[in-house]
Amino acid sequence: MENRRSVLVTGGCGFIGANFIHLLLKEYPDWRVVNLDKLTYAGNLKNLQTVSESDKYRFVRGDICDAARVTGIFADEKIDTVVHFAAESHVDRSITGPADFVQTNIVGTFTLLEAARKSWLEGSPRAENLCFLHVSTDEVYGSLGDTGFFTETTPFDPRSPYSASKASSDHLVNAYFHTYGLPVRITNCSNNYGPYQFPEKLIPLVFNNSMKGEQLPVYGDGKNVRDWLYVKDHCEAIVEVVKKGRSGQCYNIGGNNEKQNIEVVTLICDLLDKKLGLPESGQPRRSLITFVKDRLGHDRRYAIDAGKIKEQLGWEPGVSFEQGMEKTVDWYLANQEWVADLVDGSYKQYYDKMYGR
Ligand code: NAD
Ligand code: TYD
Repeated sequence: MENRRSVLVTGGCGFIGANFIHLLLKEYPDWRVVNLDKLTYAGNLKNLQTVSESDKYRFVRGDICDAARVTGIFADEKIDTVVHFAAESHVDRSITGPADFVQTNIVGTFTLLEAARKSWLEGSPRAENLCFLHVSTDEVYGSLGDTGFFTETTPFDPRSPYSASKASSDHLVNAYFHTYGLPVRITNCSNNYGPYQFPEKLIPLVFNNSMKGEQLPVYGDGKNVRDWLYVKDHCEAIVEVVKKGRSGQCYNIGGNNEKQNIEVVTLICDLLDKKLGLPESGQPRRSLITFVKDRLGHDRRYAIDAGKIKEQLGWEPGVSFEQGMEKTVDWYLANQEWVADLVDGSYKQYYDKMYGR
């Protein structure tokens, strides 16, 4: 049986963090989870409503930049494992408002590293099993041409304020390993999709607009390529890195599944036409596709070589893109109220009442 762990998950009310907590509570009953989340616009308590009463789970509303709060959690909860998801994560928002990205992604990561260093390396002897896993993105590597893949040794070349802030935090995490010996690991993952993704990101946005008969905005020529990975596969990879990864190492995680944006958008339209029939207009949902002005500095292609994690930790994706998209569309169809609450902002009232502003 896997050893007991006391896991601090940051950003657990967001898309990947919520999927990760559900996975841990279901499959790792000996692991206790403390979820520290500020509940920004991207955090939704409803994502974890079904586990909120579990005695293996505690939610703390707080900011990862709050050093006293973070240090207190390390001490009170005897944290031995950190899985750090909390971030500002949307590239378009980083273009119009980069300040929050610098604050949360860089200063927030620094604050967590300091808390881990003080708690784990100063004073009392080191516990076993310590692991600070920083969840990062393939976007730190920049943009590829038509060929080639990102490996763990590809030089960083971030192009957006989002990816620059993530690259900066990756460097800090590595520095804490080399300077202080903090037992860190980094994962750099490709684009995720699946349940609980905020409908500002491509896949849930296209689902939501299609259902409402609204335009489906495709940036530029629609031929930018992303390597899509089903979120549960990403979460399982993270667990493998916690259990079997080596300190000071980074691991690329990807779906080996490159698609042009236009292919993804068309697939969602076709799946909805197949499942629901044509909308009232009688036109296939593809007719809603509208090519719009390109994103500033839009990276052309991302593609991951996930050979290291496969060879060293035995992880590879289990869900094909076709299966994953089918599951995803079914989930969004079954959870249309969840999407509507996010789009009209009503999800906020629920926890603003519980926790105050
Ligand atoms: P998300 O935007 O859905 O969720 C982010 C969560 O962090 C939210 O719950 C938010 O409330 C919380 N948060 C934000 N600022 C905070 C702060 N200062 N203190 C505490 N909590 C705060 O993001 P996501 O898509 O789930 O991504 C999670 C992580 O995975 C991020 O670090 C992101 O860079 C990385 N990542 C995402 C993808 C992807 O495709 N979504 C791919 C690779 C890596
Ligand atoms: P996104 O989901 O924002 O993820 P990222 O920028 O981190 O890759 O976007 C995925 C791709 O879809 C990206 O190439 C930008 C494009 N895109 C659109 O064409 N239209 C949209 O409305 C959005 C949100 C994204």
